[in-house]
Amino acid sequence: MVALPETARIAVIGAGAMGAGIAQVAAQAGHEVQLYDNRPGAAVRAIDGIAWQLGRLVEKGKLEGATRDAILSRLRPAVSLDALAEVSLVIEAIVEDLAVKGALFAQLEALCAPDCILASNTSSLSITALAAGLERPERLAGLHFFNPAPLMALVEVVSGLATDAAVVETLLATARRWGKRPVRTRSTPGFIVNRVARPFYAESLRLLQEGAASCASLDALLREAGGFRMGAFELTDLIGQDINYAVTCSVFNAYHGDPRFRPSLIQKELVDAGRLGRKSGQGFYDYREGATRPAPTELESAATVDGCVLEGDLGVARSLVQRLRATGIAVTERAGSGLLRVGDAVLALSDGRLASERARQEGLRNLVLFDLALDYGTASRLAISWAADTTPLARDQAVALLRHAGLKVTPIRDLPGLPVLRTVAMLANEAADAVLHQVASAADVDLALCAGVNYPLGPLAWAEAIGLGLVLTTLENLQRSYGEDRYRPSLLLRRTLAEGGRLHE
Ligand code: NAI
Repeated sequence: MVALPETARIAVIGAGAMGAGIAQVAAQAGHEVQLYDNRPGAAVRAIDGIAWQLGRLVEKGKLEGATRDAILSRLRPAVSLDALAEVSLVIEAIVEDLAVKGALFAQLEALCAPDCILASNTSSLSITALAAGLERPERLAGLHFFNPAPLMALVEVVSGLATDAAVVETLLATARRWGKRPVRTRSTPGFIVNRVARPFYAESLRLLQEGAASCASLDALLREAGGFRMGAFELTDLIGQDINYAVTCSVFNAYHGDPRFRPSLIQKELVDAGRLGRKSGQGFYDYREGATRPAPTELESAATVDGCVLEGDLGVARSLVQRLRATGIAVTERAGSGLLRVGDAVLALSDGRLASERARQEGLRNLVLFDLALDYGTASRLAISWAADTTPLARDQAVALLRHAGLKVTPIRDLPGLPVLRTVAMLANEAADAVLHQVASAADVDLALCAGVNYPLGPLAWAEAIGLGLVLTTLENLQRSYGEDRYRPSLLLRRTLAEGGRLHE
């Protein structure tokens, strides 16, 4: 299917943060764009804002002055909806309200040509429900941009029950021509990103609530071991605790209270207190004048180590051994089940069990568990936890070994699953369920999370890199430890593992 040609006129309704960004994207791609807002003067102000943004790019030498002028000449404020009769595509980005959006689309249907595509930038409403009141519901689809639209590559192209496949193909091709990375998704709550990303916030909130470590420590681990750009607390402070909490509640309610999406009480408390994050001066962190950012906890060690014993294969953590060797640690190898022994300590990669429980079950004295890292060769920090009967000396020896390899070591209270492993396992689980339920393909789910929220790896590709066996075991251990349905593993993980196949075809 072909993209809308450059000559096709586009209308954007709603000149707020999203509408302005989308109008800019379409004008940059060569379309004549009409921008309409029912607040008098809002469309003109939005175009002035775009002119200012483009002007800065010209000043920085990133855009030619003539190109800026050409883009701006294609952007027009519309004084009424009647001016939009000639357009080939309308993108709606008004207030997030089903009734208001529904009324607008009914009005547009009467005004626009029969083959004009109607698209909504809604992030939480059902495309099926939005289209239900239309005479031709097949021409309505979701076209979900991310904020800021000119910079974020992802666009979710959402089909409702009635959406014509040709409309979806045209939108995909058009978004691609606009320089975006579109993915297909069915109209289900949260589409791809707002659904699959929920555990990123939820697991950190849960760990904080259970006293695992401080916000600063958990954030540092997700960044410096997990490879995420930001940790969950600093990110939700940036998004706004009220916005993030509202999205979680909306997804939770839309999935009829599935415990997987249960909102966090500690986040609700922040919202109740008006601590909304950066915008209110306080959230999980304090942004008021004079406030200092707390540092993550880091363990020191007085122990000295010059060698360790590797028993078996560390699997995904294999490159930790190379790193140890590269820093001058002698590593002796012998057969075993994937353990690293140093002095009195036994180190093992977490599998979702409590350290104390695993120590007892496997008869291991002085057990120290370490967390998943995106890349053990380059990570700068790693979380550890230890069993109740691990001696201070053994713990110090384990810390000394990791510090020798250049890793900062952050302690986590003994809980089922360490932060990065647990977060990635739950992200992969949600991603797998979205694929199982035909919401989107595995490739599109991974692309959506990388392009939409900047994850360093798609959750499904990450699960395959870790090994589906470890992901499934981690989830099973979490489910058993908590006795909660929240951690139930997706059938797709179990089936793919049983078939010996791959999540990405
Ligand atoms: P906003 O509040 O900044 O802008 C909405 C604009 O729509 C306002 O200028 C308002 O005057 C106008 N408006 C309201 N009702 C209207 C009507 N009946 N006719 C014409 N104009 C009307 O909101 P924002 O953030 O730009 O969001 C717009 C849509 O985009 C919502 O559906 C939202 O869920 C969605 N969205 C928002 C994202 C974000 O990060 N802000 C990200 C992705 C989607």
